[in-house]
Amino acid sequence: MTVNGRNVSGEVEGRTLLVEFLREGLHLTGTHVGCDTSQCGACTVHVDGMQVKACSMFAAEADGAQVATIEGVAANDGTLSAIQQAFQDHHGLQCGFCTPGMVMAAASLLKANPKPTEHEVREHLEGNICRCTGYHNIVKAIMAASGQEMPALAAE
Ligand code: FES
Ligand code: FES
Repeated sequence: MTVNGRNVSGEVEGRTLLVEFLREGLHLTGTHVGCDTSQCGACTVHVDGMQVKACSMFAAEADGAQVATIEGVAANDGTLSAIQQAFQDHHGLQCGFCTPGMVMAAASLLKANPKPTEHEVREHLEGNICRCTGYHNIVKAIMAASGQEMPALAAE
């Protein structure tokens, strides 16, 4: 498969999850494991442009696919993407555990829908859990990354 533009290969057992291959095989530990049961979204990556929970897919299923992880989001010189910068500017993270998954989910949303409403952002993040419960600023950051102001964000 290709991961963040780099060709990689490896031998895996049939039961090896994509997230295990990324973390343990390729040492791309930015993709987190919060539940292993497809609920938290901490393991969100893109596979052939689609948002995928990497704990819900076998590594072998990604044979030949183009995979993107959080490690490939910033520019090579370390410059943050607009979404990452917005998370920083709007305090869209606390402990940071959910952040890679949130950023990958946000990137997927904004690619498909560059100007989402607040409701659409919240709906899209349904599969991503923040155990620090910092949703308010996460939504604010994603709205800002889409170039939209959020002066009167409703508290949820
Ligand atoms: S670790 Fe994959 S959804 Fe929680
Ligand atoms: S910032 Fe801690 S889990 Fe979301």
